[in-house]
Amino acid sequence: MKIVGVIGAGQMGVGIAQTAAQTGHSVRLSDISLELAEKGKAGIGKSLARLVAKEKLSEDQAQAILAAITPVGELAAMAEADIIIEAATEREEVKLKIFESTASILAPSAILATNTSSLSITRMSRSAPDQSRFIGMHFFNPVPVMPLVEMIPGLATSDDVIIRTKAFGEKLGKTVVLAQDDPGFVVNRIFVPFINEAIFVLGNGTGSIVDIDAGVKLGLAHPMGPLELADFIGLDTLYEIMMVYLRTTGDSKYRPAPLLQKYVEAGWFGRKSGRGFYDYSGEKPTPTR
Ligand code: 3HC
Repeated sequence: MKIVGVIGAGQMGVGIAQTAAQTGHSVRLSDISLELAEKGKAGIGKSLARLVAKEKLSEDQAQAILAAITPVGELAAMAEADIIIEAATEREEVKLKIFESTASILAPSAILATNTSSLSITRMSRSAPDQSRFIGMHFFNPVPVMPLVEMIPGLATSDDVIIRTKAFGEKLGKTVVLAQDDPGFVVNRIFVPFINEAIFVLGNGTGSIVDIDAGVKLGLAHPMGPLELADFIGLDTLYEIMMVYLRTTGDSKYRPAPLLQKYVEAGWFGRKSGRGFYDYSGEKPTPTR
């Protein structure tokens, strides 16, 4: 695999593009407009500048990584890609439209992968140009730092595609774990209800934001508390994932915490909107409750 297409220049798409470029791939990065793809690349520039400042990368290396990423306004620019990774919003209708739009450009042996964190690979594969070349590659945020990729074949994914996707994940410097196409796969099935439970604990008044985060960080040796991590991932994304579990299993244990729903309804999505469980308008995040 030499040329990688990434569709979606949000937090995950940008992280995947940076990681692919850092590991020697040529990347085409797209979003709904060329401007948004360029904005995504500018974000990568800032992230690389921090690594240069920390002397983790030389200026020349950072420039070479940036030069390997081409923001594009049209999917046609991905016709040479060996693999296209969709990393758009976690909404099925949005993803399906993207898969359909790759029909005219996906090269004959290229793989179409989705970075969905919860949606069924088998169901979505029906909108892909070739079900046998469709697979889930679930990355973790921040992608350049987190060493894991979950690989999720659908019912129709071919063995050859599974082998090539695993090799590609390893080339990105990640450990690849295999998960079956069940709601939430392996990691999010465990992790997202855990975060949701922390929001129930907050809503019940059992602990404050600061105490819940300090409790989990220090008591369980997690790098971040569950509420700061929720803000980091995006409360809208977590809500959508819980709703997928609830709808697909019908089990009420997966209902989103009422406070999570309220925050999402208020447009308080976490870091990306400037407010979630913490307020990010000042120099340091401050708890909002
Ligand atoms: N590119 C390359 N390296 C980067 C980077 C980037 N964009 N951003 C940070 N780094 C490196 C830094 O250089 C630093 O390296 P060093 O330790 O060798 O100096 C290291 O990452 C840590 O960065 P910082 O010092 O800036 O910050 P912290 O030490 O506070 O760590 C963190 C930040 C990595 C985010 C850490 O807090 C963490 O691991 N948090 C948990 C993240 C997590 O759980 N993610 C999974 C979320 S679930 C998910 O994504 C699934 C989805 O489907 C919901």
